Amino acid sequence: MAGMSQLKKKQISLIAEWVGGKLSDEGTGHDWLHIKRVQRLSLMIAKEEGADLFITEAAALVHDLIDEKLSARHRMPLSALKRQLSGFGIDNQAAEDIISIITKMSFRDREKYKDQKLSLEGQAVQDADRLDAMGAVGIARAFMYAGAKGHLLYREGSHDKNAPSAVGHFYEKLLLLKDLMNTKTGRRLAEHRHKLMRSFLSELKNECACTEQAAWIDRE
Ligand code: ADP
Ligand code: NI
Repeated sequence: MAGMSQLKKKQISLIAEWVGGKLSDEGTGHDWLHIKRVQRLSLMIAKEEGADLFITEAAALVHDLIDEKLSARHRMPLSALKRQLSGFGIDNQAAEDIISIITKMSFRDREKYKDQKLSLEGQAVQDADRLDAMGAVGIARAFMYAGAKGHLLYREGSHDKNAPSAVGHFYEKLLLLKDLMNTKTGRRLAEHRHKLMRSFLSELKNECACTEQAAWIDRE
């Protein structure tokens, strides 16, 4: 596949610099390091899948800016994002492709948008975002999030949605991600990260098994 034009490369670095400045002190798990990992992984998937690299990379960079979970200071309305993209010289069609990806891709809204297929570029970014919630980095992020919220490490006995814990989050979301991958490349990478989470939970159960009930940590 042909490389990206100089102009597009320049636009990508303008977006990256802008997003980096905005999210450098973000504290809800959508920080700049997460964005950089998703950028890298999205590109890797896009290359293997033959997706457009510019749309993929641009969407990866801005994918969390409109997330409701971001604090008001970091979040921005779609209209402001559109203006900014156009300010970087990105044409309307490309801006629309990018915006369509990031509005449709969230895990939470997956029911709402389930009939609207993501573009190949969107599939790459969504897989990359989900992969970053899996594996070693996903484990680390889950415990950081739980720590920030004051949640327990795990609960003994049955799972209760109203009683959150770090381990509970694996069953609510992280262990489901493997089967939600869009692309072949995503599925291959997810396989490895899923296995790692499984063996982590199994070790955790062994180390925490002071009571029968801790068996709940690692279950089918
Ligand atoms: P996204 O918007 O990227 O789909 P979230 O905002 O839900 O993801 O989560 C950001 C990070 O925090 C992810 O790594 C996710 O697994 C973690 N996280 C979200 N909710 C919880 C929770 N209740 N307990 C532990 N970790 C969580
Ligand atoms: Ni994200």
